[in-house]
Amino acid sequence: MILSRTDPASVATCVQEIRAGGLIGLPTETVYGLGADASNDVAVAKIFQTKGRPQNHPLIVHVSDQDGGLSGAEHFATKIPEFARLLMLAFWPGPLTLILPRREGVGRASAGGQHTIGLRCPDHFDAQAILHGLRHAPGPVVWGVAAPSANQFGRVSPTTAAHVESEIGADLPILDGGACHLGIESTIVDCSRGVPVLLRPGSITAVQIEAACGQALRAANDMPNHTAPRASGTLESHYAPRAKVRLLSKNELKTALQNRSDTKTKPPQTSVGVYVRNFTPKAAPALHVRQMPMDAENAAHELFAVLRELDAQNVAEIWVESVPNEPLWAGVADRLQRASS
Ligand code: TXA
Ligand code: MG
Repeated sequence: MILSRTDPASVATCVQEIRAGGLIGLPTETVYGLGADASNDVAVAKIFQTKGRPQNHPLIVHVSDQDGGLSGAEHFATKIPEFARLLMLAFWPGPLTLILPRREGVGRASAGGQHTIGLRCPDHFDAQAILHGLRHAPGPVVWGVAAPSANQFGRVSPTTAAHVESEIGADLPILDGGACHLGIESTIVDCSRGVPVLLRPGSITAVQIEAACGQALRAANDMPNHTAPRASGTLESHYAPRAKVRLLSKNELKTALQNRSDTKTKPPQTSVGVYVRNFTPKAAPALHVRQMPMDAENAAHELFAVLRELDAQNVAEIWVESVPNEPLWAGVADRLQRASS
């Protein structure tokens, strides 16, 4: 059930649903989440069940932007290091998730049983309206909304309310907050190991993070005795459409298209989706071509929607031209890598 943002009752419906231990579709600036009361272990269990996600994969807890998100963060986390506070000041509300030591007895199921918890303060008007309502509207106080991306486990994250409905079903109340502005999931920085460690690249770049907290950002696999928690966003294969995704350089892609048009096997040909940047392939039977924006921001914004659209054409494969190996493209490159694994 998609709820219009212009209907004043929509936010109240979502607040009520969460307080009653139910699930909602939560719009954010990155992707849509499948949300539940982060402190209600029974409600959180429904998220895992609905997504088909293993119970020990931790979820991200979303907090309201009151006090820049700090009071919400302090409800769930303890021993917040100075560099993490600087990151909150610089980027909250915004697309940055911080992994922090979890306060004992709080949000156990949301954290997948780990001693740390992932926290994020989303920069989205409707998400904040819900989070504020949960904290301040008459009724029991809800401090945070646990919300992984609202897709079936391992699949492409949803960036519109309609995507959420197609992934989860029409019974879920989904607040329609429009197409997600950024389009890829938040940058995740682990702040629980004394130094900042990048767990998942996103729209906020490593350079911005280092500038804001005055420390070098480590890569997860550079850490000594690295004991990373199970984290779906960091699985090698993730964010995948049904079609097989192949990541190719411009020249490899041209060759593949050439080979395809050379084959004398006239129809039926396997149907292929192509997502290209630096050239425009000739139209051909059963070839679905989409042009990728030349800048990283717009490419991120439409990435998941395009993968979904090509998938909906029932293509057997999606051939994607690889993106520049530059810091601004790190988020998109990461998602393409995982989609093609
Ligand atoms: O942009 C986003 O982050 C979106 C929107 C809805 O906010 N959420 C999202 O959630 O991408 P999800 O569940 O698909 O990804 C959550 C990831 C986990 O897979 C894991 O990588 C990391 O966050 N994570 C959460 N809590 C963690 C913890 N305690 N320790 C390590 N990683 C954690
Ligand atoms: Mg996800």
